[in-house]
Formats: sequence, structure tokens, C-alpha cells
Amino acid sequence: MRLLLTAGPTREAIDPVRYITNRSSGKMGHALAEAAVSKGHEVILISGPVALAPPAGLAEFVAVESAREMFEAVRDRIGKCDAAIFCAAVADYRPRRIAERKIKKTGDTLTLELEKTEDILGGARTVFGFAGVLVGFAAETDNLDANARAKLERKDCDLLVANDVSRRDIGFDSGENEVRLFYRDGRVEDPPMGAKSAIAERLIRIVETLATQQG
Ligand code: PMT
Repeated sequence: MRLLLTAGPTREAIDPVRYITNRSSGKMGHALAEAAVSKGHEVILISGPVALAPPAGLAEFVAVESAREMFEAVRDRIGKCDAAIFCAAVADYRPRRIAERKIKKTGDTLTLELEKTEDILGGARTVFGFAGVLVGFAAETDNLDANARAKLERKDCDLLVANDVSRRDIGFDSGENEVRLFYRDGRVEDPPMGAKSAIAERLIRIVETLATQQG
């Protein structure tokens, strides 16, 4: 398979020295890339800023910073791929204006106006016309099942991988994860908690099966 993966956080600039981001370390997405490479797949990894070296053996590594850059990197490459896994923690909002100069400390409060970023996963089918195996993640703190099912449908995924990011032992920046898998046909699976590398290997096997079923 030729597989596209997104990983890590995005950074949304406020001014030349400040940005909005989140706690994603890139470990889950990079583990997926490593697992896919080790299974002999051709892997394109598009990653936000992380402290990890890209895994060896990638077909392409694209380092991006903002949601817009990640959107453009995906748009330019997804058409040639058989499967895509969106593991990145993309900012949902960015400052409407980026100040040209460092914002000075003047008043007691500072208001930033934010605008929505591009929904990259949400645009995979509708904007990019992607017809391959589509896997999304859902990072939830509440109502995990209902939110994950809604994302699966709204974003037209084949598989949605949900994790509870209110927990400190899994999810963001942890070496381990525990995920609940929601399939398009309504099946739900609870793989055991484990190292992100083990979860990644399992997910790649599942994507291989889904790709075979899709023909
Ligand atoms: O990086 P780690 O520290 O290893 O942590 C792993 C993780 C917690 C980041 C990962 O397991 C995870 O949950 N990734 C998805 C994070 C997220 O942004 O979830 P979400 O529920 O907000 O987004 C839903 C889906 O839409 C995701 O597939 C996301 O990549 C995608 N999305 C979201 C917003 C946006 N503008 N574009 C997107 O493509």
C-alpha cells in the first residue's frame, strides 16, 4: 500500500514569537509510520513540529507547522494513496490575524480573535475526492462513544480510533495508549492497552484488511 499519515500537533502563529498549540508529541503517528514501513508499505509521513526523528525507510517525510500547511501537504499527496490515517492533533482554530511584530504587554487583558482552520480529515472525501481506506482519530475527554460515532459518520471514515485524552497514562505524550475502534459497519473493538508501537502494529494490520476488502 501507499499510505499517507499525519502526526503531531500544529502551531498557529499569534505573532513572530508566539503560537497556539497542544500537547501532541507525535509518538502515536510516528509509531504508525514505523509499523507501516516495517510491513513493507510505502509511507508518506506529514508531521507537525515534534522532538522525534522521522522513522527510517519513509518514502517521504514532510515537516509542517500550521494546519494550513498540513492541509496543503495532504491535498498534494493523498490522491496517489491507497489509505490515509489522520493521527495529527490539528488546531481547530487559529488567530484571525498574525501580528507582524511581537505583541507588547499593554492592558491587563488581551483578546485574540480566532477563526476555524481547514478540517483536513473532514475534507478527505469531499474536497480531495479520496476513495481509499480512511482512518480518523478522535481525542475525547467526554462522551467518547457518541462523539467518536458522530466523527466516523460526519467525516465518512472506514475506521475511527478513539482515545480518552483526559487520562494521563495514555493519549497525549504517553508511551502507551488505549483505544476503542469504531468501524463503518457498526462493529466496536477494544484492543488491550499497550505500547503505542503495539497499537500501531495492530492498526496497520486492520488497515491492510480493510484495503483488501475494498479491493
Ligand atoms: O501525539 P501523541 O502525544 O502520541 O498523542 C496521540 C494523540 C492523542 C494526538 C492521538 O492518539 C490522537 O488522538 N489524535 C487525534 C487528535 C485530534 O485532534 O483529535 P480530534 O478529535 O480533535 O480530531 C478528529 C480527527 O480529525 C483527527 O483524525 C484529526 O487528525 C482530524 N482533524 C482535526 C481537525 C482538523 N482541523 N483537521 C483534521 O484533520
